[in-house]
Amino acid sequence: MSYTYEKVATPSSGLRLHLNENTAGCSPRVLAALHALTREQAAFYPDYTEAVTACAARLRVETDEVLLTNGLDEGILAAAVWAVRDRALPDPEAVVVMPAFDMYAACVDAAGARVVEIPTGQDFAFPIKAVLRALGPRTRIVFLTTPNNPTGRPIERDAVLTIAAAAPHALIFVDEAYADFAGDTLVGSLDARRFGNIVIGRTFAKAYGLAALRVGALIGSAGSLASIRRVVPPYSLNVCASVALCAALEDTDYYNWYLDQVRTSKALLYEAFDRLGVRYWRSAANFVLADFDENATSVVDGLSAREIFVRDRSRDPLCPGCVRITAGVVKHTRACISALEEVLCGAAS
Ligand SMILES: Cc1ncc(COP(=O)(O)O)c(C=O)c1O
Repeated sequence: MSYTYEKVATPSSGLRLHLNENTAGCSPRVLAALHALTREQAAFYPDYTEAVTACAARLRVETDEVLLTNGLDEGILAAAVWAVRDRALPDPEAVVVMPAFDMYAACVDAAGARVVEIPTGQDFAFPIKAVLRALGPRTRIVFLTTPNNPTGRPIERDAVLTIAAAAPHALIFVDEAYADFAGDTLVGSLDARRFGNIVIGRTFAKAYGLAALRVGALIGSAGSLASIRRVVPPYSLNVCASVALCAALEDTDYYNWYLDQVRTSKALLYEAFDRLGVRYWRSAANFVLADFDENATSVVDGLSAREIFVRDRSRDPLCPGCVRITAGVVKHTRACISALEEVLCGAAS
């Protein structure tokens, strides 16, 4: 079996609620910083020390505990390549808890490891016992996503630490792409620092709205990051991404405003699903997964016909009938809910 990242066709106009993006766009300060770039800055190889310093300060870690990457995707690829690099250790394995972000399996498969898929339990409960059972001498990397994409469910911190303790020889990759919305993070915690094998992934694509500029970060002990640095190209962050990151990190009002929009949007979606009798899972991220059962295709198509794009996740393991909807700007969420009501009520009549 080979694994690939499923790149969805992206419409050029309409309401994009299918990729967990920031539906407000980046802070206006980011555009000002991009406009202020000089011709020389475009011509010279980027030095993004300032962005590393700003990011470390924001995350309250040391600069050598941060590695900026070309989106978190590059961080995932680098971690996979590094974890699987040692040819003297045969038959490497990577543990992935399903359903999961496609990139984990795609990257470790490309790097030459076997993907060990562990299904979540009832209501996507984190399968701690099954993960512990799957760990062995061949395990090179374990991917844990908190909150999970596509379910939005967080993983208890104790479960992460128990896994890190049980597999000291493996890299424990804690993907916190949506941690801004969850308000909980392992970054900078004494707990994470106790385990040199934990590396945390963050992205500035979601809460900061820099998806197109591609900025992610790996955070971990200086020692473990020093190894991963060896497989990350020297100029991963281009100059636009680096000035954008500094500007976005400064605009905390905009960031907090957006988190508030997401909180309100999720509450509106929950209310709508309760009213419409749709099962859903409360989410710690900026999206909600809902089970439309046999109506899933008509919901996705009906919304799409109204230029509202949501993500059909019904082919993901354990997700039949499921659709994932981004919770962003409240006005956008209200538009989506009205369209959803039209589609579902039309389907019922
Ligand atoms: C769980 C998870 N990790 C990583 C990423 C990739 O982030 P980036 O856009 O920074 O590459 C995503 C993007 O959707 C994601 O959902």
